[in-house]
Amino acid sequence: MTTTLLTGISELWTLDPALEDPQALPAGATEGQVIADAALVIDSGRIAWTGPATEAPAADDQVDLGGRAVLPGWVDSHTHLVFAGDRSGEFEARMAGESYAAGGIAVTTDATRAASDEELLALLRRRIAEAARGGTTCLETKTGYGLTVDEEARAARLLAQLHAAGEIDEITYLGAHLVPAEYQGRAQEYVDLVAGPMLEAVRDAAGPALRWIDVFCEDGVFDPEQSARVLHAGIEAGLGLRVHGNQLGRTGGAQLACELGAASVDHLNHLDPSDIDALAGTASLPVAPGAAPGQLSVQQGPTVATVLPACDLSTRAPLAPARSLLDAGAQLAIASNCNPGTSYTSSMAFCVATAVLQMRLTLAEAVRAATRGGALALRRDDVGHLGVGARADLHVLDAPAAIHLAYRPGMPLTHAVWRRGVRVC
Ligand code: NIG
Repeated sequence: MTTTLLTGISELWTLDPALEDPQALPAGATEGQVIADAALVIDSGRIAWTGPATEAPAADDQVDLGGRAVLPGWVDSHTHLVFAGDRSGEFEARMAGESYAAGGIAVTTDATRAASDEELLALLRRRIAEAARGGTTCLETKTGYGLTVDEEARAARLLAQLHAAGEIDEITYLGAHLVPAEYQGRAQEYVDLVAGPMLEAVRDAAGPALRWIDVFCEDGVFDPEQSARVLHAGIEAGLGLRVHGNQLGRTGGAQLACELGAASVDHLNHLDPSDIDALAGTASLPVAPGAAPGQLSVQQGPTVATVLPACDLSTRAPLAPARSLLDAGAQLAIASNCNPGTSYTSSMAFCVATAVLQMRLTLAEAVRAATRGGALALRRDDVGHLGVGARADLHVLDAPAAIHLAYRPGMPLTHAVWRRGVRVC
C-alpha cells in the first residue's frame, strides 16, 4: 500500500484524544492537539503519523499543501437528506413574518413519496457531494419523509445502498417525524405503527447499517410519553437513541433523552437550567467498544447536546444556548440539520462561523464541536480527529489558520478534502 506524506501544513488540528486531559471539561483544543508547521502521513486510508515537519518520515508520495491549515473533516451528525420537492416559498413567507410550523414536513412527505428511487438516489448523491465540497467527511442522515411502512422502508433501503458503497456513515430511522395526514386524530395508532411494523420493515430494509432511532418530541408532534414508547421500541431492537428536542418549546425532549441514555438530543432552543444540568450530568458517562471497528456502543455514553445554528437562523428561533451548555460541562456537537424546511444548507463552515460569531464559542470550541463532538454524538471514535489510527478524513483550508473560518465568514475556504485517505475534492 502506498504511503502519502502531506507537508506545508501551517496548522494541523489533530484533536488527538490521546492528548486530552480526561479530568478537564470538554472544551476546545489542548496543548499539543494543534501543531504548527506540521506534516502528516496517510497509510491505507488511516493516519499513520503526525508531527512537526522537521521530523517527518519518508513516504512513497508527497503533497505540499502550501502553508495551509488542516482540520479533521467535519462530522455532520444531523441531516435529513432523503427528500424531494421544494419549500422555498415556505421559507420566504417565514422571512416575511410567518413562524415555523412542523406541518411543512407533510409537504415534503408528499413530494418524496412521489419521487422514484432513481430520483431520490440522484438527489441524495448530489447533496452528499455538496457536503463533501464543504469539508464534511462523515455524515448521518435520516428517513422521516416517507411516514408509511413501505415509504420508510424504501428510504432505509436507499440509505443502506449508499452506506454499503461507503457514501454515508450513519443511518437513522425517523418514522416519528410527524403524524401523517392519514392518521390525523389517531396519533396513538400511528405511534403503534412506528414502534411496531414500521420499525421491523425499516430494520429488514437497512440491515445492520441501521444504528439509530429518532423522534421529534414536541407539542403537536409526539409528546414525551409517545416519544418514550418509540424510543423503547428502538432499545429493544438494539438501536441507539437520538431525539429532536426542545426546538419549539420546553417540551420534555432533553430530559427524556438524558433519562433514556440517548446519544444525542438536537435543537435545544428552549432549555432551562435544570435541562442544562441534566445534559451536563451525563458528560462523563463512560463509552464502550461497539459492534464494528470505529464504532462505540450505542447503549453507553454521554447524551451530547447538539446545536443546529443554521436551523436557528433559518427559523428565526432563539439561538440554542451553546455557551451555557459548554460552561456547565455538557458535551457539545454542532450539526447542519440539512433539510428542506428549517435548514437547507449542509455548510458546516457556516455553522461553525455562526457558533463563534453569534453563540459566543471560541473557534477551538466550535471546531471541536463540529468534529469530535459530532463523532461522540454518533458514538464513533474513528472520525472527528487525526490521531494515529483515525480515518484519514482531512479538511484543508484555503487559509493559514483555522480562525479564518469565523474571520472570513461565507468565503469559500475549503481547498481540498481527503476521505478515507482518498482525495475527493
Ligand atoms: O430537524 N424538527 C424536525 N425536523 C426537521 C424539520 C423538518 C422539516 O420542516 O421538513 C428539523 O428541523
